[in-house]
Amino acid sequence: MMKESGTTAGGDLLIVDVTAITMDARGSVCPDAAIAVQGGEIAYVGPARELPADLAGLPVYHGKGRVAIPGLVNAHTHAAMTLLRGYADDLALQEWLTTMIFPAEAKLTAEDVYWGTLLACAEMIRSGTTCFADMYFFMDAAAEAVDASGIRASLSVGMTSFGDAAQKLSDALDFCRRWNGAAGGRITTMLAPHAPYTCSPEFIGDVIAEARRAELCLHTHLSETVREVQQAQAEWGKSPIQHFESLGVFELPVLAAHCVVVDAQDIEIMAKHDVRVAHNPGSNMKLASGVAPVPTMLSRGVVVGLGTDGAASNNNLDMIEEMRFAGLLQKVHAGDPTALPAGECLRMATMGSARCLRLESAIGSLEPGKKADIVLLDLDMPNMEPALPERLVSHLVYSACGLNVSTVLVDGRILLDDGCLVTIDAEKVAREIRRRAASLAQ
Ligand code: NI
Repeated sequence: MMKESGTTAGGDLLIVDVTAITMDARGSVCPDAAIAVQGGEIAYVGPARELPADLAGLPVYHGKGRVAIPGLVNAHTHAAMTLLRGYADDLALQEWLTTMIFPAEAKLTAEDVYWGTLLACAEMIRSGTTCFADMYFFMDAAAEAVDASGIRASLSVGMTSFGDAAQKLSDALDFCRRWNGAAGGRITTMLAPHAPYTCSPEFIGDVIAEARRAELCLHTHLSETVREVQQAQAEWGKSPIQHFESLGVFELPVLAAHCVVVDAQDIEIMAKHDVRVAHNPGSNMKLASGVAPVPTMLSRGVVVGLGTDGAASNNNLDMIEEMRFAGLLQKVHAGDPTALPAGECLRMATMGSARCLRLESAIGSLEPGKKADIVLLDLDMPNMEPALPERLVSHLVYSACGLNVSTVLVDGRILLDDGCLVTIDAEKVAREIRRRAASLAQ
């Protein structure tokens, strides 16, 4: 398999002349900040004038007056679906899946998944995402792309119980054994039973037993559409969430994508078991799945992060746009402009998503001891003015776009430098993608 350049460790550096939006528990915004990076971790973030003397000698990276935020975390995607971007739009979900997406996916090779994932990594890095949760197939190839790009990811093999389910589960466990903690710790893994409607109760039981044995979290799709809930009621006399609870799924740590069609009882179940939700407003809008009751979930203490879902149903992987979608969708749905304010959207895309991936002790905020996954955004662009410190969170959510991102670090390693991708040959990726996408569509 063709591979991009391999991984190198991040150097120590001192980012100066930035305004830091830390997303720590106090929501600190620090103008005239310095951020010291040592051994891939944040050693200091705060006022430049209070920088400890022993950190003052680190090599300087000029922030040029930019704003620094924690790297955005995409809590649910199918990265290689970038190959299918624009291939099938404006169709009903079932028709979209069965007549277009599934037949094209059946033709995918491991090399396609490698290049599709690498394109996704390029797009995510370019737009300020430093970590993502992925569920797809040929995941060894996806992991190779993650390794080569320098991004962080929680990877899982999507499993259904159609065909040889035992073999699928065994292969997924092998994948987890091979890749958990790989790429210098940047790759973590989960087990991913695709959804209640694609996994039999017996298979779910096997997945739970193996996940418990291997100490793995689960990544699944849950309560995405009215049709899914109606089917569950008809088949089991329960909502999908009640069904999964009765099977014991929630005795494990679970990341559940969507949770759009949920009632008060479902939300109580999620809160009770600390089921963590990846909200995907762009995909939910494009596929007309509905509106997840995010404010209610948050008020009940459910952890909610933000994801893009795959590029065939979004159609980009821009988490900044996703924050705006999240806010605007709740406002128009509730008929209430106070619903889901900007700060809450930014929290979902950072700490919320980090919690979804169970990585909250390592990423999601700019704090000493956390990984140096840092994004700098250009304030020197018309859409970011007036760039007053107290307006920056508003600008980030309501006015910015991915192209405002100028610099991205993961583990202290620079992956995007002044708008230029460092680890990925974007032209080569584009050539491969166009050729492969055209042949998949034939
Ligand atoms: Ni999905």
